Amino acid sequence: MLLQLCTWSEVEAYLKRSVGIIVPIGSTEQHGPNGLIGTDAICAESVAKGLGEAAEALVAPTIAVGMAQHHMAFPGTMTLRPSTFIQVVRDCVVSLAAHGFRRFYFVNGHGGNIAPVTSAFGEIYAETSMAPRDGRASSDARSPRDAGDHRGGVVCTLRNWWLRPPVVALAKELYGEHEGLHATPSEVSLTQYVYPQAIKTAKMDPAPPATLDFADAFDFRRRFPDGRMGSHPALSTPEHGRRFYDTVVADLAKDYRTFVTA
Ligand code: NI
Repeated sequence: MLLQLCTWSEVEAYLKRSVGIIVPIGSTEQHGPNGLIGTDAICAESVAKGLGEAAEALVAPTIAVGMAQHHMAFPGTMTLRPSTFIQVVRDCVVSLAAHGFRRFYFVNGHGGNIAPVTSAFGEIYAETSMAPRDGRASSDARSPRDAGDHRGGVVCTLRNWWLRPPVVALAKELYGEHEGLHATPSEVSLTQYVYPQAIKTAKMDPAPPATLDFADAFDFRRRFPDGRMGSHPALSTPEHGRRFYDTVVADLAKDYRTFVTA
């Protein structure tokens, strides 16, 4: 179920049976010679939609622009500065919490989002933790400020789809050391499965091994001239993408059920 395709009364009815919501969060950034600019948002969104169907859970609109300053030397990349991004995540959660949502399950598609999203969760929790105790019953909580204990309060979690153990195992089986760190064959395969009409081809050799030791966008492009970080996405196929999709949706469906009921 997608939030955008619900009426307000359907959301009201959903909240009577669940306080959980899935939030896809991605990035809009270069992904090497054959990877789509939207790769991270497409991956997060497709996995979140599949998870929403499997777990009968509501899926929020995708937060499609993330923290990608280091890719800005490549055309098409968009970024929010970390401080802006933290506020975007915070406002999205607080808006939904005002209606009664309490369990926020972020499905992330981009490594650069991990630090700011984790900081956003810290900002949200700080508001609850620092709110004055005013004696209102937590079971009647309608917003994070009113929620004084764990059960009444907001809980957020971040799941990075490409780091889930069954996904890592499949990437190792299919690509070994050619998976790399960015513009990986696993994420490109997933976009090829979701958008077969947008499959691109480009001549490339395997990239040399990469590290996460880089600074700004110009430093990044100097180190990684075609945008890849140690990866060989020419190995990508839509069939591989289908296997990644099925693997991660099954894995997260189990995990989501545990999270919303905890
Ligand atoms: Ni990516």
